[in-house]
Amino acid sequence: MEQPNIQTNNVGNMGDIIKHSLLVQIMKKLIEYKPKTFVYVDLHTYLFHSKCDLVRFESETKKLSDIDDYISIEQSHLEETGFYLCSSGIATHFLREVEDSYCILSEQNPQTKVQLESQLSQYTRVPHYIMNHSTELPQRLRALPPSSTLFVLIDPFKLTLEDWSVQMATITECVKSSPDVKAVIEVFDYDEIDSDALWSKFSIDSVFKMIRSYQHKKYHLAVFATHNIADSISQAVKVKL
Ligand SMILES: C[S@@+](CC[C@H](N)C(=O)[O-])C[C@H]1O[C@@H](n2cnc3c(N)ncnc32)[C@H](O)[C@@H]1O
Repeated sequence: MEQPNIQTNNVGNMGDIIKHSLLVQIMKKLIEYKPKTFVYVDLHTYLFHSKCDLVRFESETKKLSDIDDYISIEQSHLEETGFYLCSSGIATHFLREVEDSYCILSEQNPQTKVQLESQLSQYTRVPHYIMNHSTELPQRLRALPPSSTLFVLIDPFKLTLEDWSVQMATITECVKSSPDVKAVIEVFDYDEIDSDALWSKFSIDSVFKMIRSYQHKKYHLAVFATHNIADSISQAVKVKL
């Protein structure tokens, strides 16, 4: 039976625009480090690209400043294909510049997953592995080379304390296994409460530093980075609400 995906009606909304603008600014900075191995992990992927309410997208992007790079990546893909890039589509735009790069993706909705696989095979040559993150994330992260550069997007509609603690413990174990790993985590959550109250609920190991948090209505975003890149990621993140 068809399981509708809530994201279908949210593609290109303000939450997506802030999230993807941050993704672009951070990936662009990580590329400058000339990563030997560049790995993008998306625990809640949705699609590679999707239809989008372009009227809403254009009016919402006008409300933000310093997001020109993001708009230009979306506009050229829209002109070429008629579709709006989702997080994995944006990430592969950068990964393809690094010879040894790949993405590890997870998507729970069965119909979305089939469509995602088909889009990936048609639109990108970046190697990709689709996994079930609740069972396979530890082994996937343990297999990373010691000096990898890693970007992890955690983007459920609603972040639970239980999922957060399992995912953070796994990512932290990977980062602690090698002092050379450079890692960024971007997290999105849709929640009623205030940003400070929200992020104080979610504990994070001291190997990570919180770089920025954003709140727009019920949309919450936070960026964390390992100390070896925290200052430069902080300078790269320029989105202003
Ligand atoms: C907010 S959307 C992701 C949007 C996408 N990351 C982007 O920025 O373009 C959340 C997605 O996570 C999927 N999802 C929800 N729970 C999941 C889980 N436990 N494992 C994998 N995917 C999940 C949903 O089906 C949905 O497609």
